[in-house]
Amino acid sequence: MPLNGHANKLSEIIGNTDLLTIPSLSRLAQCDISVKCEFQNPGGTVKDRAALQMVLSAMESGLLKPGMTIVEGTAGNTGIGLAIVAKSLGFGLKVVMPRGQTKEKEQMIALHGAELILVDACPFSNPNHFYHTAKRIADENPTFWWANQFENTANADAHYLHTGPEIFQQTNGEVSIFVTAAGTGGTIGGVTKYLKEKNADINTICVDPNGSGIYNFLQSGTYTATSGGSFTEGVGIMRLVNNFRAAFVDHTITLPDSDIVTIANYVREQDALILGSSSALNVTAAFYAAIKFGPLSGGKKQHVVTLACDLGERSVSKLYNKAFLESKEIFVENDTIEKLMARFTQNDDILKSVTFDYKNL
Ligand SMILES: Cc1ncc(COP(=O)(O)O)c(C=O)c1O
Repeated sequence: MPLNGHANKLSEIIGNTDLLTIPSLSRLAQCDISVKCEFQNPGGTVKDRAALQMVLSAMESGLLKPGMTIVEGTAGNTGIGLAIVAKSLGFGLKVVMPRGQTKEKEQMIALHGAELILVDACPFSNPNHFYHTAKRIADENPTFWWANQFENTANADAHYLHTGPEIFQQTNGEVSIFVTAAGTGGTIGGVTKYLKEKNADINTICVDPNGSGIYNFLQSGTYTATSGGSFTEGVGIMRLVNNFRAAFVDHTITLPDSDIVTIANYVREQDALILGSSSALNVTAAFYAAIKFGPLSGGKKQHVVTLACDLGERSVSKLYNKAFLESKEIFVENDTIEKLMARFTQNDDILKSVTFDYKNL
């Protein structure tokens, strides 16, 4: 973003998001719990950052030349980010997306005029998985370039170069805990690498949705899914990818969707903050970490930072839809913040230390 706040292209206003301390949860936990407002990005998500950095790096290395078409497989948000970046910088775009993601994301990609190719959701081992389909399409034509957000480490670079430094500067270097979920691992990879370089004592936590394999992988080296199947989107994975490999993770935690519903509704009512589903997972883990590690860190007020990854509007049909939640046997009125807090206070072994050396796999 230019210094006087006047941009000439939409892609120029990606990044430099505000850090917001959530008053209600901070008061309850007696420390600062803050979110990076990634919904302020023009595409409404943290993935705008990865999209921009991947495209800029490919342009710089000569892999992406004027007139070419970008191809990417995505749960949706990277597709929206790429749509903005592609149009701002003069490229075509084809987005391959699994069916079953919220309709809002499909509609946004269509509104941006990108070509949307929907495939059935299936395991990664199936050649028709959105990832393999995108690669196949890109291989078909020398004027297509595959962004490959999972293995292309320009994704994590976006967070090493920008998100991490922004967090450090916005907390005056006093961030004491950083927690986030991972999809490609770009965010956790880049941010934790930067923060650990600045201060190795910053406690880093990866939260994993139920049904994903990161939680078990970080403890044993094997991707076995935890029980349940979370409705969060864009987070959780069953394989080690380059962007995640860059991460420095001290602890891991998995939390059920019922807990994130309680937190999402509490901050919606108290703070006017409408979180998306992965953001609600992040904030719930940040709240747990605040309770577990206490109000002070090294004699100073504990400052837990996480990300509000996208616009809450994109989660209206799931996270804030009573009928949908009841179909998943989640009853909004069952849990109050008081009950959740009591459970989190009593149960201090939900969070596990990462002892496994995953970096050299
Ligand atoms: C809504 C949302 N939250 C979080 C993430 C995870 O970010 P990362 O891919 O950097 O791990 C994604 C990734 O697609 C996402 O779409």
